[in-house]
Amino acid sequence: MSARRYHLTSYGCQMNKLDSELVESRLRQRGYEAAADEASADVVLLNTCSVRQHAEDRVWSKLGKLRLRKRQQPELVVGVLGCMAQEHKRYLLSRMPHVDLVVGPSAFGDIDATVERALERNLHLAAEREPARTKHEVGGAGVLSVDQGVSGDTIRRDVRVRPHRSQAFVSVMRGCNMPCSYCIVPTTRGDEVSRPIADIVDEAQRLCDDGVTEITLLGQTVNAYGRDLTGQDATLARLLRALHEIPSLRRLAFITSHPNFLSPELIAALAELPKLARYLHLPAQSGSNAVLKAMRRGYTVERYLARVEQLLARAPDYELHSDFIVGYPGETAADFDATVAFLQRVGFAQSYVFKYSPRPGTVAAERSDDVPEAEKERRNAVLLAAQEALTVARNRALVGRTVEVLVEGESKVAGRLSGRTVHHRLVHFAASDTALVGTYVPVRVTEALAHSVVGELLPADAAEASAHDPVEARHA
Ligand code: 5AD
Ligand code: SF4
Repeated sequence: MSARRYHLTSYGCQMNKLDSELVESRLRQRGYEAAADEASADVVLLNTCSVRQHAEDRVWSKLGKLRLRKRQQPELVVGVLGCMAQEHKRYLLSRMPHVDLVVGPSAFGDIDATVERALERNLHLAAEREPARTKHEVGGAGVLSVDQGVSGDTIRRDVRVRPHRSQAFVSVMRGCNMPCSYCIVPTTRGDEVSRPIADIVDEAQRLCDDGVTEITLLGQTVNAYGRDLTGQDATLARLLRALHEIPSLRRLAFITSHPNFLSPELIAALAELPKLARYLHLPAQSGSNAVLKAMRRGYTVERYLARVEQLLARAPDYELHSDFIVGYPGETAADFDATVAFLQRVGFAQSYVFKYSPRPGTVAAERSDDVPEAEKERRNAVLLAAQEALTVARNRALVGRTVEVLVEGESKVAGRLSGRTVHHRLVHFAASDTALVGTYVPVRVTEALAHSVVGELLPADAAEASAHDPVEARHA
C-alpha cells in the first residue's frame, strides 16, 4: 500500500506553527507523506485558533466544505487540532459527525498514534457500510484527545523537520496563568508548564548543530518562564544566558512578554547579551488605566512606562513592539485617545491592533459588547495609522545606513530577496542568488516603506562597517 498522505493547515499564532511542525514530524516518522494539496490527502488536519471569532469562523467555514467532501470520500480523516478542539470538543463530536479527530494543544506528543486510530476506524466503518449508503453522510471515527495528553514539549524533537535552514522556534513553556479578562488562551491552553533549562538547551544545541543560527523562544508569557519549576531557579534571564553560550548561535529572540515580568534581572540580561535580538514584544493592550484595570492586566500606564524607561536606560538600542485591543467593553472615546497618546509616547516600532472580540466563557464576555462595530473599525484604523507614522519615521531614519540582514527567502517582487535585521525589520534588496538564503549579509538602506525598507546588497566585508552603527549594530 502506498504511503498515506496528510495535509495540515495552521491558523493563528507562532506557537501553532511550531506545533504543526511537531505534528508533521510525528506523522512522517510513522511513514506518512505530505500531500501535494488538500484534495489529494487521506488525512486533512486543521490546527486551529480561538483567540478571536474571526479565526474560528474561518475554520467553521472550512469544516462546512469538508463535510461535502466527506460524503464522497467517507474514509477521509478530518481532524480539528489545537485551541478550537479544546474549546469546542463536545460540539465538534456531537454535532459535526464528519470530524473524526479532535486533539487539544496539550496532546500533540502522540498525534501519530491518534491519527492512525482514526484512520483504521474509518476504514473499518467504510468496509462495514453497505455500498448503497456510501453517498450519505456517516458518522466519523470520533477519536478524542483533549485536556491531558502527551505534551509535545516532552517529546525529543526531530530537529531536521523545519521550514527554514537557519531559523527555528523553540517552545519554552505552554499555557498561561494570567487573568486577562478577554482572553480564551488560559482555557484552551491550560496552566503554565515550563520546560527544564537543560531540555531547552539540548534542543537548541541540536538545532544549531544542524545549521540553525537564529532561535526565537516561544511562550504566551515567555518572560514568566520558570515560575512553575520550583526549586530550580529557572528564569528567562538564566535561560538566555545559558543559550547564549552556544558558539554557532548568532541571534536569540523571545516572544511574547508580559509587562509585569520585565524584571531587573531580565533587563540586565537584555543589556549584557550581545546575541539578543534588539526588539521586545511587550503588549500593552491599552493606554487607559480604566481599561487596563477592567482587562485585569495587572499594571498601569505609569508602571509600563517606568519598566520601559528602565530597559532603555540600560539598553537604548531596543525597540518595542506591542499589541492593542480597541473597542473593549466600556472603552470611551477618551480612553481610546489615551491609547493613541500612549502609543506615540512609547514610540513603538510595530504594533498589532485587534478589534475586541467577545470570547464565550471569559469574564469580559459577561459585559455588553457596547462599542459599535463601526466605531471599533474607526479606532482600529486610527491606531494603525498612528503606528504606521511611527514605523515609517523609524524606517526613514535608517536610509543611508548599513544593516545586517539574515536572508529569509525570495521577496514577492521578482529579482529580490528579503530578510530581517536584528530589530526584526523586514528588508528587501535586489539579488537573485538564492544561495544567500540563510546567510547574514550587509545591506545599505536606500528607501523606507510603510512596513519594510529597501536596500542594496554590499560586499561581505562591508559587514564590519555596520558593527559600529549605533542604530542597527551587528551583534554577533
Ligand atoms: N479580542 C481581541 N483581541 C484579543 N487578543 C486576545 N484576546 C482577544 C480578544 N478577545 C489579542 C491580544 C493578544 C493577542 C495575541 O490577541 O492583543 O495580545
Ligand atoms: Fe491571554 Fe493575557 Fe495570557 Fe496573553 S497574558 S495569553 S492576553 S491571558
